[in-house]
Amino acid sequence: MNPAVLPGDGIVMDDAEFDRWVRLLEQRTGVVVPHSRRQFLETNLRLRLAELKLVSLERYHDEWLVGPNGAREWAVLVDRLTIHETRFFRHTPSLALLREHILPAYMARTGGRQEFHAWSVGCATGEEAFSLAMVIDDYARRARPRFRFAVTGSDVSGPALKVAESAVYAVDREREIPAGYRDYSRAHGVDEFVIDAALRARTRFAQLNLLDIERQPMSGLELIYCQNVLIYFPRARREAFLDQLVKCLRPGGCLIIGPGEVTQWRNPQLERIDSRRALAFRRRGASGPIAEDSST
Ligand SMILES: C[S@@+](CC[C@H](N)C(=O)[O-])C[C@H]1O[C@@H](n2cnc3c(N)ncnc32)[C@H](O)[C@@H]1O
Repeated sequence: MNPAVLPGDGIVMDDAEFDRWVRLLEQRTGVVVPHSRRQFLETNLRLRLAELKLVSLERYHDEWLVGPNGAREWAVLVDRLTIHETRFFRHTPSLALLREHILPAYMARTGGRQEFHAWSVGCATGEEAFSLAMVIDDYARRARPRFRFAVTGSDVSGPALKVAESAVYAVDREREIPAGYRDYSRAHGVDEFVIDAALRARTRFAQLNLLDIERQPMSGLELIYCQNVLIYFPRARREAFLDQLVKCLRPGGCLIIGPGEVTQWRNPQLERIDSRRALAFRRRGASGPIAEDSST
């Protein structure tokens, strides 16, 4: 790799150098940086080199990104290059599908005897995992008999997961939570709130790079929820991730992804759940279809 000097006003990255970093990032992290984000990549590399007091990309690559500590530094870089934008109850049609169809179908099928385990893949700072937990807990409380559940959130970003584990958010974010679910938040100082302890106890977080998905230990899941994450990967890789996720579902378990995040993908083990506004599938092998999504 050619050395690149870093003058104060920017990194000097010619086309070949840019292409080399795009290839490296894709190989090591799966993340694709399109040409339109060239400035973004350069800026983030420059900031990272300044933090490490380095002046050459070559040294950064050879001394920080290879060897035993290389994986940690790649994770830092991915953290800088991905966006952790998220909200509570971000895609309400998907959550309505969960509340009004997936949970009732699960109760009809199991009587609540099996634990309902949900996985929020690419959960960023935890809002998605807690939104799932709120919807499931609210349903479980009303169900007779009540049932046990757990939610796991995973992300590649260590800093994002630290926020998720703290479960503390700025108070102005509370309005993202629909009024009927605000019982799950508690005041925390003057300008923050914290998620209720009982809900936190049912929600755990783990660091996982989707590139390592074949080695992750999740199985027997009732729900996998993966939104706004696949966008970081090329189409073939998105489909390979989804095929791996399907293996983690129980028969009858459901996969909800972001509308439009994959268009052609099909998996023979899945049937599409009929919904106009949510993109969801159910793993075959359990009796009884999920009713059409009349909530949309
Ligand atoms: C835009 S956020 C989406 C958060 C949430 N799913 C939502 O829809 O609100 C995308 C998340 O994907 C995570 N991500 C990106 N590449 C990843 C990878 N290779 N493995 C795991 N997570 C990844 C990022 O760290 C980021 O937190």
